[in-house]
Amino acid sequence: MDNKLQVANALATVLKDQLSVADIQNKIEMPKTSDLGDLAFPTFMLAKALRKAPQQIAADIVAEIDQTGFEKVVATGPYVNFFLDKKLVGANILHEILTDGAAYGNNTDGEMRNVPIDMSSPNIAKPMSMGHLRSTVIGNALANILVKNGYNPVKINHLGDWGTQFGKLMVAYKMWGSEAEVKADPINTLVGYYVRFHEEAKANPELDDQGRAWFKKLEDGDVEAQQLWKWFRDESLQEFLNIYDQLEITFDSFNGEAFYNDKMDEVVNLLEDKGLLVESQGAQIVDLEKYNLPVAMIKRTDGATLYMTRDLAAAMYRKREYDFDKSFYVVGGEQREHFQQLKAVLKEAGLAWADDIEHIPFGLITVDGKKLSTRSGRIILLQDVLDDAVKLANEQINDKNPDLANKEQVAKEVGVGAVIFHDLQNERMNSFDFNLAEVVRFEGDTGPYVQYSNARANSILRKAGNPDLVNAELSLTDAAAWDTLKLLGEFPATVRRALNDREPSVIAKYALHLSRAYNKYYANSKILVEDNEKDARLALVQAVSIVLTESLRLLGVHAPKEM
Ligand code: ARG
Repeated sequence: MDNKLQVANALATVLKDQLSVADIQNKIEMPKTSDLGDLAFPTFMLAKALRKAPQQIAADIVAEIDQTGFEKVVATGPYVNFFLDKKLVGANILHEILTDGAAYGNNTDGEMRNVPIDMSSPNIAKPMSMGHLRSTVIGNALANILVKNGYNPVKINHLGDWGTQFGKLMVAYKMWGSEAEVKADPINTLVGYYVRFHEEAKANPELDDQGRAWFKKLEDGDVEAQQLWKWFRDESLQEFLNIYDQLEITFDSFNGEAFYNDKMDEVVNLLEDKGLLVESQGAQIVDLEKYNLPVAMIKRTDGATLYMTRDLAAAMYRKREYDFDKSFYVVGGEQREHFQQLKAVLKEAGLAWADDIEHIPFGLITVDGKKLSTRSGRIILLQDVLDDAVKLANEQINDKNPDLANKEQVAKEVGVGAVIFHDLQNERMNSFDFNLAEVVRFEGDTGPYVQYSNARANSILRKAGNPDLVNAELSLTDAAAWDTLKLLGEFPATVRRALNDREPSVIAKYALHLSRAYNKYYANSKILVEDNEKDARLALVQAVSIVLTESLRLLGVHAPKEM
C-alpha cells in the first residue's frame, strides 16, 4: 500500500469526525530530514475546531493512534511524525516490483481516453533543428507516460508542408536549381536555395511577390507547382524518417498542414456563420481584442490561407476523429501567442472543447547565447549531433569494456540515449545553451550514468545466476538500503506527477536520483555475501534494474544490460 495512505488510514481512525482520508492524505508532508521520520502530519488546521493548541493535538493523536505497522509514531511540536516499519515496507515494495516487473507503476487513470499529441512537426525543405528534436523527444516521452497512466496517445507529425515558403522555394529552384543537385543532397540543397532567396530578396523585393504568386498557384492546384511540391516533400520526408529511425520514434500520423487543404472551407464557413470574420485591408481576420490578443489572420488579401487557418482545421478534425480528452501541442514557447489565438478563435466560435487544447511549450536552445535560425545559417544539425554522440560512446566503450559483445549496438544505444536524456532532464521551459561536449559527457548527471548504473546491477544479478526471488524472504534490516527502497516506492507517484506536470524531466530526475542512491548503497555493501539477507539484497538490485529500465523506456532511451 501507498505509504501516505497507510498513514492517512491510521490518522483517520482518530480524526474521523474532523477530516476524510483524502483530506488527510493531502495534508501529509515529507519531513525535511529523515531523522524526523518518513512522513509528517501538521495539526495547525485542527486547532480552531478542537479548541486546542496544535502541540496538544499532536500529543493527543500520538496517545490514541494505533501504531501497528509503524516503527514508531511521535509528536514533535505541532507535527505528528511517522516512522515507517522499514522492514515491512521495504519487503512489500520489493515484492510488488518483482511481481509486476515492467508494469510496476502502471495505473488506469486515463480510462483509455484519446490524447492526440502534435509533436516534432519539422518543416519540409529545411533541416530538422534542435528545436524539433526537443518537440520530438518530449512528445514521445509524454506519449509513453500517457500510456503508463492508462491513456491512449496519438502521435501526430504536423509536418510544415504548406505555406508561402514553398512558393519562394519554387521561385529559387526555377532560377538557380538543378534536379541532380537536389537529388544528391535534398535538404542541404533546398536550404541553400532558401538562404539565397532571402539574400537576393533583400535587394530585390519583387522576388517576394513572385514567391507569393507561386504559393497561390500551388493552392489553386497548378500542375507544375503541385509536382514540385510533392517532390520537395518526398525528398525531405525521407531524411526526417531516417532521423526518426535512429531515435526509434514512430508516429501514428503524418498528416501535415497540406492535409487540411480541403478542410479549410469548413473553418471559414463556421467563422462566417458566427459573424466573426471581418475584412481588414482586403484580408479576412478575427478580432480577439476581448482576449487581449492580436487579430487572427484567416485569409490573406489574395485569398491564400495561413498557418492559423490550417491549425483551426486541424483542431476541428482531431476533435471529430479522436473525440479527444485533451489535445496536446508540443511546440516551442515562441509560439505561445499562436496557440492562445487558436484557442480563442475556437472559443469564440462556440466550441467548448477549445479548453481541452493544451500548448505544451519548451525553452529555446541557443548557441553562444544566440537564437538558432535557418536564415542566418546558425543551425545545429541533429544528424551531426547524433553521429558525434555515438562516436564518443564508442570511444568510451573501447576504453572501459573492449571485449563487449554487440559493441556497435550498445554504442548507438548509449550515444543516442545521451542526446535524448540530456534534452529531457531539463525542465521543459528551461532554455539551455547547446554544447556538444556537455551532452555526451558520460559522468555526472547524464543518461549514460543511469544506463551504467543499470548495467552494473545486471552484472551482479548475472554473477548470482539471475535467481528468481519473487517468493524469497525480502526483509532488509540494513539501514543503508532504506534511501533506495524509499525511492523505489515513490515510482508510481512519480509516474503520475510526470503526467500531471507534463514534464518528462520528472522521470529523468527520478532516474538520476535512484541511480545515485543505489550506487551509494552498492559501494558500501557486500551484496553477494552468503548470509540470510542475500536474497533480499539481490531483490533490491533487481528492483532497481526494473525501475531504472522502465524509467529510461518512458523517456525513449534503451537500457543495455552490459556496457
Ligand atoms: N512546423 C512548425 C514549426 O516548425 C511547428 C508546427 C507545430 N504544430 C502546429 N500544429 N502548429 O515551427
